[in-house]
Amino acid sequence: MATVSEGEQRVWTRKDLIGLEDLSRDELDMILDTAPQFLAVSERESGIKKVPVLQGRLVVNWFYEPSTRTRTSFELAAKRLSADTLTMNVAASSAKKGETLHDTLYNIEAMHTDIVVIRHSAAGASRILAERHPSHIINAGDGAHEHPTQALLDAFTIRQHVRRTRGDGRAGLDGLRVAIIGDIAHSRVARSNVWGLTKLGASVVLCGPRTLLPDAFTRLGVDVTSDLREAIDGADVIYVLRIQMERQSKCLFPSIREYIRLFRIDNESLKAAKPDALIMHPGPINRDVELSSEVADGPRNVILEQVTNGVAVRMAVMHLLVNKPRVTA
Ligand code: CP
Repeated sequence: MATVSEGEQRVWTRKDLIGLEDLSRDELDMILDTAPQFLAVSERESGIKKVPVLQGRLVVNWFYEPSTRTRTSFELAAKRLSADTLTMNVAASSAKKGETLHDTLYNIEAMHTDIVVIRHSAAGASRILAERHPSHIINAGDGAHEHPTQALLDAFTIRQHVRRTRGDGRAGLDGLRVAIIGDIAHSRVARSNVWGLTKLGASVVLCGPRTLLPDAFTRLGVDVTSDLREAIDGADVIYVLRIQMERQSKCLFPSIREYIRLFRIDNESLKAAKPDALIMHPGPINRDVELSSEVADGPRNVILEQVTNGVAVRMAVMHLLVNKPRVTA
């Protein structure tokens, strides 16, 4: 793996962002190193929370699945970069009359798009579009495959905390332990985080009911366990996932009551955790199922910081894809 020395300049070359499996550590670092300048734009107390980085460009939000955070975050990110935005209403679009994804995008591109942000229930949807279309394609979640900008904003949030607590503005994720708890099998967030966190030097342990914990993950260099105490013992970050009932054709564990007893993160289960372990969740939370309200609203959680950082990270991604700037390490 190539190392980059301080002050060295790097150039972004990719057209699209499809998944963190594709990216090198250097590329991950370029995104994380570009985000702080955009966080500062959003945090301006006076003046305009905008920069002219994508002025005159068109960003299309095209979501085939429900979303609160990702869709609004991309829309705000595009607006803060001064881009024009277009939100596709899939329910009222000609997809309902049988138009294919490619044909829809050819027609949208005929109106001169620059970036297309797509969420789709089919794994690989964003990749097949990226291979054929000139627009910059950003995967906002494809089935249970990847959700790259979620994992990027997660890594950025962890890195901010490490830097703050260590007082070291160059600290990274090397040596950290991250426990991801919940429905691993159906989680694109877990997959992207495994790729991202391990490339950035963290170790990952995945924990959940055996039926929601595919053995295939062990090939990606992570630990797996169904013992919650074992997973969170020594973890620097406890990353909680929702049970995705909408992706399960049959119930894969005995009952929600059983799940809560064995896997819920609450004040009781956290007795096995480091006192300063961060609590993270990508949202939406099913309160008092995977995460108790006392923890979801408690002092260890950084869940809304993740949301805030998501706008900056998505601004960074769009800037890199379109403008291919030089990034200083
Ligand atoms: N984290 C996330 O993807 O949330 P939404 O489904 O609300 O976008």
